[in-house]
Amino acid sequence: MLPLRHSLLRTSLPRIALARRLYATARPPRVLVTGSLGQLGTTMVNTLRAKFGSENVVASDIKKPSMEQRSTGPFVYADVLNYRALEQIVVDYGIDWVVHFSAVLSAAGERNPALGLNVNITGFQNVLDLAKAHNLRLLSPSTMGAFGPTTPKDATPDLTIMRPNTIYGITKVHMELLGEYYREKYNVDFRSLRYPGIISADSPPGGGTTDYAVDIFHAALKHNSYESFLAADTRLPMAYIDDCIVGTMQLLEAPQEALTQRVYNVHACDFSPAELAMEIRRQHSDAFAIAYRPDFRQAIADTWPRTMADEPARRDWGWNPVFGTADIVRIMLDKLGPVYAAAAAAADGTAPPLPIVEDLPAAVVAS
Ligand SMILES: NC(=O)c1ccc[n+]([C@@H]2O[C@H](COP(=O)([O-])OP(=O)(O)OC[C@H]3O[C@@H](n4cnc5c(N)ncnc54)[C@H](O)[C@@H]3O)[C@@H](O)[C@H]2O)c1
Repeated sequence: MLPLRHSLLRTSLPRIALARRLYATARPPRVLVTGSLGQLGTTMVNTLRAKFGSENVVASDIKKPSMEQRSTGPFVYADVLNYRALEQIVVDYGIDWVVHFSAVLSAAGERNPALGLNVNITGFQNVLDLAKAHNLRLLSPSTMGAFGPTTPKDATPDLTIMRPNTIYGITKVHMELLGEYYREKYNVDFRSLRYPGIISADSPPGGGTTDYAVDIFHAALKHNSYESFLAADTRLPMAYIDDCIVGTMQLLEAPQEALTQRVYNVHACDFSPAELAMEIRRQHSDAFAIAYRPDFRQAIADTWPRTMADEPARRDWGWNPVFGTADIVRIMLDKLGPVYAAAAAAADGTAPPLPIVEDLPAAVVAS
């Protein structure tokens, strides 16, 4: 008889196809997204609504949405620290799945450990208990930050040493283990993937150690120079947001039988600040200048993998990223270039003033 892993391998693809066919005739799931106004939530909500219908995706956060964000479907205030309020939303909207994006990220967590512990541990405990009480599917992302200084740094596998030394990493290991425990003990349909640093043009990053890889594009287009808070050779795993969201949807929709584990590494590409700057010079301007002034985030980055092994995610639910470093640079310049060109023309008086460009990174707006 084939070992279990091999028999799953042989059967998971037809099962995925069957589940998708069955699913096409069933009613779409009703999905609650927590932290939906963050860097990833904004795009995730749009993708979920395109697939399942606007009315079936309830966006939530503790921040105030823009008029545009409010106009695309239901939005509710939801503090993940308030179990009863979350439960009322689940009951009122008949929620089936929760995508839990509320979190305090790595750099923000080091600035305010008490907040990180509260939001990442109590907030997760609340959605996990909610998933148990109401039979919900729960997807809650983890991070490469769940690894630590003693983890092997190259081709880091799913199962390895995990002794992170940041509040963010500690809370994410707690999340992974508790989710797996609830899966084993109470059959809660918990799913998670360890994201690398995510790069996007449409929404600003929320206080992570890889934020430089977004800020650098704004600075290149505004000043043609950038001061990096990570050292030149700090190689880290990264992904473009479209790969991240496609992968998240794949894991969210994968049939139970396809999953051989509950937490998966996902790797797309990896680069250092110096390599990213070189690609920006190549595609944008030879004169682009970068300086390096590492701050407290360097110590965080130094504990993270340089690359992650993600074969189980590719095998079980089809993780297949398509954007490399050069693609990411091209897309970021294509998306942000016209915004900065129009703003510059408006400032020169050569074009009518633009509406205020919202959501640029604070460092760039202030500079
Ligand atoms: N962006 C990345 O590069 C990255 C990398 C690895 C993992 N992740 C994970 O992906 C998920 C989403 O990350 P993101 O980048 O969108 O984060 P973000 O910081 O941009 O957004 C988090 C959102 O959570 C909200 N929030 C904070 N406290 C809350 C509370 N008490 N109740 C409800 N909402 C609250 C914030 O208002 C914010 O909109 C997180 O779990 C994060 O750990 C992100």
